[in-house]
Amino acid sequence: MELRPMRSWIHHSRGKVLRQAGAGRDALPDLHEDMITRQGFEGRDSHLYRRNEPTNWKRVQDDADHLDFDGQLLEPTDLTDADGGPIRLLHNPDVSIWVSRRSANMTYSARNADGDELYFVHEGTGTFYTEFGPIPYEPGDYVLVPKGVTYRIRPAGPVNYFMIVESIEELGFADIGSHGRRAPFDPALLYVPTPKLDELGDGRNEDGEWPVRIKSRGEYNSAFYDFDPIDVEGWKGDLFPFKINIRDFRTIMSDRIHLMPSAYAIFATPSFLVGNMLPRPFESAPDSEPFPPYHRNMDYDEFTFFHRGTAMSLPIPLGSISLVPRGLHHGIPAEVMENFKKTMKPGDHLDMAIIIVDTLRPLIPTPEVQATRRRGQHYSQVGRKDQAVTTND
Ligand SMILES: [Fe+2]
Repeated sequence: MELRPMRSWIHHSRGKVLRQAGAGRDALPDLHEDMITRQGFEGRDSHLYRRNEPTNWKRVQDDADHLDFDGQLLEPTDLTDADGGPIRLLHNPDVSIWVSRRSANMTYSARNADGDELYFVHEGTGTFYTEFGPIPYEPGDYVLVPKGVTYRIRPAGPVNYFMIVESIEELGFADIGSHGRRAPFDPALLYVPTPKLDELGDGRNEDGEWPVRIKSRGEYNSAFYDFDPIDVEGWKGDLFPFKINIRDFRTIMSDRIHLMPSAYAIFATPSFLVGNMLPRPFESAPDSEPFPPYHRNMDYDEFTFFHRGTAMSLPIPLGSISLVPRGLHHGIPAEVMENFKKTMKPGDHLDMAIIIVDTLRPLIPTPEVQATRRRGQHYSQVGRKDQAVTTND
């Protein structure tokens, strides 16, 4: 077992506080619990008990505000053109997030020399045809294509939606603690491909050549072959593409204390993590709280992609994308929390499936994703009709 460094055990309490942070908020009915954290949710933190909801600002300047995007409005070129590609949404020097809505077999093979690609399948079925062998895909799959692996995507139908996380550093599995080798997932459930020569003969351009489109330093350039470059008959080693489905991720939870999203991490590098918040029972012990406090995750931006479910009573359509930049508070409005808790019964389940990406360096939105921005619909602002957004000048 890997030993974690000793954290600070010196905690101070001043003024009105809960005995146990994150539990029994009814003991301070007139105050709102608010958290400020470093190093995600792993470093030093403090809980503040304040009179007003910190998300209830009167107005906010545009560049500080939460971002909320309608992912259904995104139109990558691969939506209508087999020779097209994904669209970039957000980026920093470590990681970028893309969307592909590929509707037809690729007319080229792809190879990313800039980084690993982690595909999350939101909609559609088909095959990642890789040089290590075919990987069938379905909704809820993560398909990890390591840097340099040649592949092409062969959808079974025209409706497909992939969220892609491109990582400059090598992606690995997150270490979320000492829960045994089979939690939160059994490593034997990784789908690892076996080579199979392509019988369709696709992946060719109009001239009948097999292009390999190589992404390097952000640019795309192709090498052209007179034979299918995906021609492997065998492989051995510990570098390979694979997939795992979110249904095989068995969320770790506690009945008595709400765990922060880092407990749902599945992939990580030193500069970001990818996690999944998946359906699970709500905490139901007498003084437990089903929702996190308002918070400022001061060392990370928080990206979310809404894959499935009803988001409790919050009006979040599937395919919604949000970015919470560090600095401004976020959290579920008190009225929504109170109404939900009034009708909640032991055994009730959260039915949402949300993919999260928390990044150490700030994420910069592209003009393409900004064009799909919705205002006033971020979950922190639900029901707050009076909040205004003003420009920075
Ligand atoms: Fe958060």
